[in-house]
Amino acid sequence: MSVLLTGADGYIGWPTALRLANQRDERIICVDNFARREWVEESGSVSATQIEDPRERFEAVDNLSLVEGDLADRDFVLQLLDTYEPETVLHAAAQPSAPYSSINGERALYTQQNNVSMTLNLLHGLDECGLDDTHFIETTTTGIYGAPEFPIPEGGVEVDRQGGNDDLPFPNMGGSWYHVTKSFDAANMRLADSEFEFPISEIRTAIVYGTETGETQAHDSPTRFDFDYYFGTVVNRFCAQAVAGYPITVYGKGEQRKPMVSLEDTVESLVRLVEEGHSGDDGIDIYNQVTRPVAIVELAETIAEVGEEFDLDTEVKHYENPRNEDEEHKMEMENDAFLDLVGGQRQELEAGIRDVLGTLVEERDRIAAHEDRFLPGVLTDD
Ligand SMILES: NC(=O)c1ccc[n+]([C@@H]2O[C@H](COP(=O)([O-])OP(=O)(O)OC[C@H]3O[C@@H](n4cnc5c(N)ncnc54)[C@H](O)[C@@H]3O)[C@@H](O)[C@H]2O)c1
Repeated sequence: MSVLLTGADGYIGWPTALRLANQRDERIICVDNFARREWVEESGSVSATQIEDPRERFEAVDNLSLVEGDLADRDFVLQLLDTYEPETVLHAAAQPSAPYSSINGERALYTQQNNVSMTLNLLHGLDECGLDDTHFIETTTTGIYGAPEFPIPEGGVEVDRQGGNDDLPFPNMGGSWYHVTKSFDAANMRLADSEFEFPISEIRTAIVYGTETGETQAHDSPTRFDFDYYFGTVVNRFCAQAVAGYPITVYGKGEQRKPMVSLEDTVESLVRLVEEGHSGDDGIDIYNQVTRPVAIVELAETIAEVGEEFDLDTEVKHYENPRNEDEEHKMEMENDAFLDLVGGQRQELEAGIRDVLGTLVEERDRIAAHEDRFLPGVLTDD
């Protein structure tokens, strides 16, 4: 059974490619255009981990084949699907940064064109190539739920209104130009599910934290790890700040809870979904890929506490919130289907932070040399 993995050079893509290669006999077709490497360079930052040239790192692993190309290009996607006829497409390519998409209209347009085009090209491509049994999986984001004042369901929401009752899809409250691309993708997948034959699963990914997995260690080939304002997600950026001796920057009160998941739980659930396939039930299988919501201030304090094991003396500082959000939002989220898929949480937050700090203390100089990238600035005025 052949697997096509998009975004394979990315933070989640690379460890997922390695685990798939480890567990499966056939070659994994890995697609990327290395755009993430360019965005981070453009923002004046670097990956804290020193990642190899993409062509070299894919070549070094048996079972991985790299195809370079732009998935926003429809002809490329049609040719790709026609050539490899994958039985599973795991689509993890995206411009995934909310702050990057919010810099200006040009980046908002790029993000929306890039992300929405890729999904549309893949969905229509599967149909046009007659790949009716292929399982299409996409990582969207828990951010498409927004921050409602009720426990977030895993998928749709039941609505009672004026005597009527129905299940409505619930992907419509994205809080950035990037998040809205995933709302679009969710809506497009829903339409594709009713128009085309192939099964679809949507994994709504929370904020991912972590560095190594067993496979990145075994291959001595880390995944990228960004810590700058645009591409460093909150746990990873805070850990880098702690290692550089820079105060951890909490926006506002920091009592708002955010959904989180470790890289290990993320990779394992994706690989299991590839193995197990679609449930066979009607409609899209939807998973909230989250283990638990964590308050930002709790996160900062946990990092400061675990940091003491690495002789870090971390100050937690509150800054005026540049985001428009409720600073006390509770964020409750159902995740039964996800926990079932992954077989129970594999890594707790504290253990994940310990791993990250352990990796980052080895790269302290590299991070410290770019510590001005923790805050916005460099990309705002062009
Ligand atoms: N990391 C997180 O915390 C997080 C949270 C929620 C959702 N997600 C989702 O998970 C997926 C993977 O995220 P990530 O953190 O690994 O991001 P990433 O940027 O590290 O990886 C995405 C990869 O896609 C590639 N790509 C982008 N546009 C492309 C195009 N047009 N053609 C070919 N390749 C292209 C990039 O070069 C990059 O290597 C994305 O769908 C993202 O939205 C991630």
